[in-house]
Amino acid sequence: MIHLEHLGRTFKERLRHRSVQAVHDLTLDIAPGELFGLVGPDGAGKTTTLRMLAGILKPTEGRAEVAGHDVAQDPEAIKSILGYMPQQFGLYGDLTVDENMAFMCDVFDVTGEEREARIRDLLAFTGLGAFRARRGRALSGGMQKKLSLAACLIHRPRLLLLDEPTTGVDPVARREFWDVLTTLHADGSTVIVSTPYMDEAERCNRVGLMYDGHLMICDTPAAIKRMLPGDVFALQAPDLNHAADVLNAMPGVSDVQSYGDRLSVIMERGSDIERLRRDLAHEGIEAIDLRPVPPRLEETFIYFVRRYAAEPQQAAAS
Ligand SMILES: Nc1ncnc2c1ncn2[C@@H]1O[C@H](COP(=O)(O)OP(=O)(O)OP(=O)(O)O)[C@@H](O)[C@H]1O
Ligand SMILES: [Mg+2]
Repeated sequence: MIHLEHLGRTFKERLRHRSVQAVHDLTLDIAPGELFGLVGPDGAGKTTTLRMLAGILKPTEGRAEVAGHDVAQDPEAIKSILGYMPQQFGLYGDLTVDENMAFMCDVFDVTGEEREARIRDLLAFTGLGAFRARRGRALSGGMQKKLSLAACLIHRPRLLLLDEPTTGVDPVARREFWDVLTTLHADGSTVIVSTPYMDEAERCNRVGLMYDGHLMICDTPAAIKRMLPGDVFALQAPDLNHAADVLNAMPGVSDVQSYGDRLSVIMERGSDIERLRRDLAHEGIEAIDLRPVPPRLEETFIYFVRRYAAEPQQAAAS
């Protein structure tokens, strides 16, 4: 469905006379029917990538094919195939839910009996049936996201490009949104979704981690977790800041990450937990709880992002 070859996008900032490489050398294939997650911190290049795939931003390097069409040369050809949901609410705040949907029908030439039937079905599907008369700007954030999704489905696209569709949405609405996505995926749609949430990334067939314009990692969630080069220990202790300083200086520790009231300590494979406990005690740190835990996506991503941030050239080359 998607074939990217050394795709890149450089923005020239005229005022500051410098350029920003938002996406760098992106080579990737996505099969029909895949549910592909794109994760990465702010400014990683997720939106730029999705906009190039949607044919609304021209690549400056390489090429992107969607369903066999070159997006830069033939953006019109992919219009009927894909639905693109932008990161910001892109509909009209002054128009009602119904009017926004009718507008999308006009854009995609959905007419006749089909028009009302599709609007009704999509609004029911996304749980907006009771809000048809409400203006876009009077909808909650989560409802605006659902309306954006309903709107981008009006022409029954086979490929969905969703840019952070659940960011800032409450957990219940997030779950409902994913129920809708799962149904679309089960019906055979190809879905590419960017997200800051690891539980959402976990639900994808494959996940790509972008950082600083590079696709650093791309694999199934299970395979990504296996990439973490070490064992993970969860530590709870009274003074976590002190514990983190001590651990960071300890041989065999490759990363220390803080998660609420615990630290995730990434150590060389085969590390001895009792020895770690003794070493910590020796430094005056009595563990309240210390145990081996399976690696999570988040730990793997943070590990690789930190490694890249410390030595970009080496990390990019490896
Ligand atoms: N139109 C533009 N002009 C100049 N620079 C841009 C433009 N669009 C994006 N950038 C820059 O490109 C980089 C990637 O931005 P992009 O919006 O793709 O990131 P993102 O991963 O979507 O981030 P976020 O999670 O914040 O949405 C950033 O450094 C951004 O400032
Ligand atoms: Mg973005």
